[in-house]
Amino acid sequence: MGLDDRDALAVLRDAVDPRHGSDALIADFYTRWFAVDLSARDLFPPDMARQRTVFAQALSWLLGELIAQRAEEPVAFLAQLGRDHRKYGVTQRHYDTMGDALYAAMHHRLAGQWSDRLAEAARDTVALATGVMRGAAEAEEGPPYCDGTVIERIRATRDVSVVRLQLDRPLAYHPGQYVTVQVPQWPRRWRYLSPAIPAEPSGGIEFHIRSVPGGMVSTAIVNETRVGDRWRLSNPHGGLAVDRDGGDVLMVAGSTGLAPLRTLIMDMTRFGVNPRVHLFFGGRFPCDLYDLPTLWQIASTNPWLSVTPVSEYSTDPPWAADYPDPTPPRGLHVRQTGRLPDVVTRYGNWGDRQILICGSAAMTEATRAALIAKGAPPERIHHDPLTD
Ligand SMILES: Cc1cc2nc3c(=O)[nH]c(=O)nc-3n(C[C@H](O)[C@H](O)[C@H](O)COP(=O)(O)OP(=O)(O)OC[C@H]3O[C@@H](n4cnc5c(N)ncnc54)[C@H](O)[C@@H]3O)c2cc1C
Ligand code: HEM
Repeated sequence: MGLDDRDALAVLRDAVDPRHGSDALIADFYTRWFAVDLSARDLFPPDMARQRTVFAQALSWLLGELIAQRAEEPVAFLAQLGRDHRKYGVTQRHYDTMGDALYAAMHHRLAGQWSDRLAEAARDTVALATGVMRGAAEAEEGPPYCDGTVIERIRATRDVSVVRLQLDRPLAYHPGQYVTVQVPQWPRRWRYLSPAIPAEPSGGIEFHIRSVPGGMVSTAIVNETRVGDRWRLSNPHGGLAVDRDGGDVLMVAGSTGLAPLRTLIMDMTRFGVNPRVHLFFGGRFPCDLYDLPTLWQIASTNPWLSVTPVSEYSTDPPWAADYPDPTPPRGLHVRQTGRLPDVVTRYGNWGDRQILICGSAAMTEATRAALIAKGAPPERIHHDPLTD
């Protein structure tokens, strides 16, 4: 039975599902694991709350797929996770100690109803997950990460810094993809960032980072990044892309959500003929629209691109005077005032366009909902995973 035993898998899935209260089991698992393997503990950040949740989500999703007798996607996901886990310094031995601890935590939690069938399903699930991850990690010959040196930091606004790095080797990524990044100010706290320029053979790369209120890593990057800092980048992920045969394009960028869309636009400038692209670039104040001069430059030589700057407030706060003025010379669309979801849908539902949205989870969800409410087909709307 094992992986074919749907009833037993369903019991395990409910036990690890965070929506059904799996906190105690997952916490017990990590406690058991770290008690026997301190070297594993050293790879995680001090606070484990977020990790416990994402791990429980991944495990319950995996069990759900196994219950539905789907193998292809889980195996691909686990293999990618295993290849990617190399960047943390995970070794083969960690998988042994981890598998034992996870099995023991499931056994302990479900002791009242434990049976041979549950034991077999638990053993097989753990063996599948760790087996695929470690196998893929071992088979992968490419480097697990890419280091680079900060060569420039520009304080673009009160909340945004533009950081340029020279990587030790060129990193191959598709326009629109993202990487995870570890900075020296916060070791072991990896965060997603999207390159703001297409991959350069010389290894140059640029990121735009906005400090979110109370944000640990973003605040440190924006305020404390220094020339000479060494950053570590994961391999790229994500599939945000423009389908060059998919018709005209609507892009909606909130603040530094501009980064991957700007990369896609820059990549499109390589072609003589392109679908029309209309970009809404939004921020709180006019001074938050930090990259308008670059967008103006691109739009002025590429007639397929038009840009609408959007700000929630029509005037700048006094502190705007301390940062570069992003007002472009002229020629762009007139700036609109309002929230992105409202301003974008003032022009219709954009249902004939491929729609790419990028920014905070709240803005992305609100814009998506507003477009769908107006009649845009959901399958035409694309964005990165929403994790904040
Ligand atoms: C695919 C992807 C690509 C990304 N690319 C970029 C990028 O190019 N540039 C960039 O600046 N950021 C980007 N982010 C967001 C980034 O990864 C971090 O989540 C963000 O910088 C906050 O990290 P932190 O450590 O400062 O906050 P944390 O300490 O992790 O969180 C502190 C608080 O801030 C809240 N929070 C987290 N993220 C946001 C947010 N985006 N807006 C508002 N509140 C938030 C959290 O809910 C929490 O309450 C991207 C995220 C994803 C998923
Ligand atoms: C069944 C096997 C495993 C599964 C399903 C799993 C799942 C995950 C997931 C979903 C994440 C978050 C996404 C990511 O950052 O990549 C993660 C992060 C992580 N995992 Fe695993 N993992 C497994 C095994 C291991 C092992 C053996 C180690 C060895 C120490 C490990 C160490 C880490 C570390 C250090 C992080 C980053 C935590 C952070 O950045 O906050 N994992 N894991």
